[in-house]
Amino acid sequence: MTDYRTLRVALLGAGAVGSQVADLLLKHGDELADRAGAKLELAGIAVRNLDSKRDADLPRELFTTDAETLIVGSDIVIELMGGIEPARTQVLHAIASGADVVTANKALLATHGSEVFEAADQVGAEVYYEAAAAGAIPIIRPLRDSLAGDRVVRIMGIVNGTTNYILDRMDTEGADFADVLAQAQALGYAEADPTADVEGYDAAQKAAILASLAFHTTVPLDAVHREGITSVDAAMIESARHAGYVIKLLAVCERLTAADGSESISVRVYPALVDRSHPLASVHGANNAVFVQAEAAGDLMFYGAGAGGVQTASAVLGDVVSAARRHIAGGVGVGESTRANLPAVPIGHVITRYQITLEVDDKPGVLATVAGILSEGRVSIATVEQTVIEADENTQTSGSARLVIGTHKAREQDLSETVERLAASGVVERVVSVLRVEGN
Ligand code: NDP
Ligand code: HSE
Repeated sequence: MTDYRTLRVALLGAGAVGSQVADLLLKHGDELADRAGAKLELAGIAVRNLDSKRDADLPRELFTTDAETLIVGSDIVIELMGGIEPARTQVLHAIASGADVVTANKALLATHGSEVFEAADQVGAEVYYEAAAAGAIPIIRPLRDSLAGDRVVRIMGIVNGTTNYILDRMDTEGADFADVLAQAQALGYAEADPTADVEGYDAAQKAAILASLAFHTTVPLDAVHREGITSVDAAMIESARHAGYVIKLLAVCERLTAADGSESISVRVYPALVDRSHPLASVHGANNAVFVQAEAAGDLMFYGAGAGGVQTASAVLGDVVSAARRHIAGGVGVGESTRANLPAVPIGHVITRYQITLEVDDKPGVLATVAGILSEGRVSIATVEQTVIEADENTQTSGSARLVIGTHKAREQDLSETVERLAASGVVERVVSVLRVEGN
């Protein structure tokens, strides 16, 4: 066997992902050593509670609650605790101690990425984070390295496994939101606080990371428009199906070019209607898919497991091997390029198609009033479908009806002002839903 130099690896966290990383590191040590050019010695595993049940059978003597001491003297620190603190402090401590860092922590990178990358730059360390967006799917390296010579125009994708699992089960089986969320938690897909998944925070963090890399721009989390899936109910899913759509939580990152050539970006996360014939409609379970459109490369699609302990461990270990190779070969890390620093526009500037569902009085002139308000608001109607909900037996004309209006592309600000006017018009009983239509 080759006499490799030994690199000391510290693992922080042994939950859904960390336990699988430790297991694979121990099981495949010799093979990983050949790939990395170094023996990877798992020096210890820092956890919160030594007695917690683990998903893998790991040597008890490796466990400690003293992350700080474990980090000192380590060559590579793998942070899989999640959350901001103490992850931030421990990552900065690892960098200051001379280690390279591997992390899957999108919450940390989306909020304190600049601080972490600057600290790493100062000491010539590298931070690897392939698992921080779209789980097992290689998307960070393609954006950072493979597409470094191209200009990314648009990224559109499903980047949260938990919400895709929930929406897919609701769509295909009519499952109940709360039941499927509990299953996603049991399967290790959900964040420690699943609000991060269902309210779109996790997807927004990933969108910020992807947009930063794609557009060479620092994208603060508060520049990302975020809506979650908690308002999506069985009726909306059924109505989408009826119109030939499926509802998906999408992350959209776009480069916008104004008439004068100036550029800006739009980064947003929301549940949207996707045509059932679109490839994103066939992304089932906890899978993710990311479409990247680049000027020279054209359309690229990345697909695979977006969550799950062992799947994510694959991406983490790929980073560990890269970190080990760099450690052995030496040299300064590539750093993050944010030189373009394009401004992010608010959601009101976005141009897309919409589906507006209204409950209206079913009487003469209502359709004309609704059409008039849309026209005044510069929102052009593409399709209209009316279904009678409740007819008045005496007049046959004064019950309620459901109107589903599909629009041509419109500006979000115009659309939202128009919907406000519709709601106040006197002919609309209720705005049932307003959903964007993405993917053409
Ligand atoms: P878990 O909640 O399953 O595990 C977290 C681990 O960190 C536990 O072992 C816990 O210890 C330990 N930990 C938490 N706080 C502390 C602390 N203060 N001190 C020491 N140890 C601590 O998380 P996951 O494995 O699901 O996720 C880990 C990271 O990977 C997160 O950043 C997540 O966003 C990311 N990620 C997760 C994916 C997934 O599918 N689960 C996919 C992609 C990324 P103890 O066990 O003792 O409580
Ligand atoms: N909770 C996240 C998800 C884990 O469901 O996608 C993967 O980042």
